[in-house]
Amino acid sequence: MYDSKLVITGLAIFVILMTFPLWYNGGNAGDLPKVEKPTNYKQCVEDAAYMRTSHMVLLDDWRDEALREGKREKVKAGDIEVEKSLMNGCMMCHVDKAKFCDQCHQYAAVKPYCWDCHFVPKETL
Ligand code: HEC
Ligand code: HEC
Ligand code: HEC
Repeated sequence: MYDSKLVITGLAIFVILMTFPLWYNGGNAGDLPKVEKPTNYKQCVEDAAYMRTSHMVLLDDWRDEALREGKREKVKAGDIEVEKSLMNGCMMCHVDKAKFCDQCHQYAAVKPYCWDCHFVPKETL
């Protein structure tokens, strides 16, 4: 038989270590850079906190729904409706890729490959 107290202590230490980066900053994932938010729109397609952490998942879902399942119905962003699209959706509001997407991505050292194929809106070039 194993000692369940030891196992539980072990698990507790594991969980604490794994989540250290989360609670060390008081639940704030560090200082993400300030990004230029749209001035002519008030709301994103989901709330800002969700978007900060999960926009990549949302984008993948949009792509799968639009392309594989043919579900191209519009989504709500506050009181307007937008296309499930990187270019015609996200970039309709977030017009300046350099001051928005790239700001964070450079900081987080991620390079989404989306722009190999999808155009960047003209104003940002
Ligand atoms: C190899 C080229 C290529 C790459 C790389 C690529 N895409 Fe696409 N994507 C396409 C094509 C082609 C379509 C189809 C356009 C259509 O039919 O509307 C599309 C459609 C989409 C759509 C749905 C419709 C639209 O107009 O946006 C989304 C959302 C999307 N891509 C997101 C992404 C994201 C996010 C990435 C990066 C993680 C990415 N794509 C990378 C080629 C690519
Ligand atoms: C209708 C316009 C609109 C569309 C479409 C839109 N956004 Fe937003 N987005 C906003 C606004 C406005 C904010 C700021 C909201 C706030 O601060 O409460 C925002 C916030 C965000 C944030 C959080 C930024 C931060 O640091 O607080 C991210 C990330 C984001 N959007 C990514 C995306 C992505 C990716 C898409 C496409 C899947 C998208 N947005 C589509 C208007 C839009
Ligand atoms: C508030 C900061 C922030 C903003 C603004 C932001 N991103 Fe991100 N994005 C991130 C972070 C951080 C990651 C890496 C997350 C991870 O690795 O789990 C990421 C990852 C991604 C990925 C997945 C890339 C990969 O290689 O896994 C895509 C696609 C993406 N972002 C698209 C966008 C687009 C398009 C915009 C602009 C409309 C945008 N992001 C704006 C912070 C941001």
